[in-house]
Amino acid sequence: MIEVSKRVSLIAPSMTLAISAKANELKAAGVKVINFGVGEPDFNTPEHICNAAKDALDKGYTKYVAAAGLPALKKAVVKKLKTDNNLDYDPSQIIISNGAKHSIFNAIFATINAGDEVLIPKPYWLTYPEVVKSCGGVPEYIYATPRHGYKITAAQVEAAIRPQTKMLIFNSPCNPTGAVYTEKEIRAIAEVCVAHNIVVLADEIYEKLIYGGESHFSIAQCSPEMKDLTIIVNGVSKSYAMTGWRLGYLACPPNVAKAISSFQSHSTSNVNTMTQYATLAALEGVQQPMVDMVAAFGRRREKMLEKLDGMKSLGLDYVKPDGAFYVMLLCDNLFGKTYKGVKIHGSMDVADLLLTHKQVAITPGVCFGDDDAVRLSYALSTADMLEGLERIADFARECE
Ligand SMILES: Cc1ncc(COP(=O)(O)O)c(C=O)c1O
Repeated sequence: MIEVSKRVSLIAPSMTLAISAKANELKAAGVKVINFGVGEPDFNTPEHICNAAKDALDKGYTKYVAAAGLPALKKAVVKKLKTDNNLDYDPSQIIISNGAKHSIFNAIFATINAGDEVLIPKPYWLTYPEVVKSCGGVPEYIYATPRHGYKITAAQVEAAIRPQTKMLIFNSPCNPTGAVYTEKEIRAIAEVCVAHNIVVLADEIYEKLIYGGESHFSIAQCSPEMKDLTIIVNGVSKSYAMTGWRLGYLACPPNVAKAISSFQSHSTSNVNTMTQYATLAALEGVQQPMVDMVAAFGRRREKMLEKLDGMKSLGLDYVKPDGAFYVMLLCDNLFGKTYKGVKIHGSMDVADLLLTHKQVAITPGVCFGDDDAVRLSYALSTADMLEGLERIADFARECE
């Protein structure tokens, strides 16, 4: 038997696997499952982006390129960071990787030593703790409560910092809560990080998906000192409906970029060349398809929140999300009740019962470190969304 390394044995299997396996079984049996579990836009990649990839193939751009990314694409990212975020970077500070997930891995692998503590606000995107652990770091959680709009405060960060704290992972707009921090809230957190020399991994992958008049502010914008401590991660998966293309990027101080560039050249090397040309078209081409997609998500969000408002009387509350395409639905009022003879203990039971009896797939909050809620994605058609919410309402009514 081959014994796996201690490093990988620490990584937890995905908790969502059992639910999605069961949903797939039902679908294969011809049952219509309404899926609120989707983590990607249900829109096609815009045509001009696909055409740019086809064009790259036709031109024979099928060879290796620089491991850290096409120079033209790095320049386009620099321009994007200036235009959207008013941040100045040199192309050498940009690394193009295989999706934002890969960029996050690179950032943590390049900076975290064994025993370093990494602060993670919870509910969190479930990959963060697993990457931290696989790099020898120790995740420490700061609870972002629904009472505070699922946002951590500067005071909470200050209280959580210990001598071994190295990094804070900061995700705004947030998956799973949809929380978007204001500039004021971010500046307060930045002040604490600068005072204690804490590196901030700023995951800004949902930057473009913000609604209701809120806007994105990058923590790197707070001050030159904060920028020197920030690793920005972003990409095109969510904003341009390009999840399958696999392209993310990071922007960071020169010494970190140099280190990542070196080890990326010995691991994955360059992201596939056609995807890089497609991404160039995404960043530099017409933005209207992306604007239209965000507007469509915005309309769905309105409908979803309207419907959820009507479900509050059933004990199902929520915190208004301003970004991404998720809502956390608080279901702790159902705990202790029974449904068809089964006692509900936590979010996993809610997910399981909803799937079995109502053919509705949702993601239990326990996967994100918060058992009091379930995550609903609105990356599905409005008709399915409304039908699914009606089924969830029926479920809550039928709990005794
Ligand atoms: C918060 C967050 N960061 C990063 C990613 C990864 O994005 P990519 O598909 O570009 O790897 C996701 C994807 O679900 C996400 O939700």
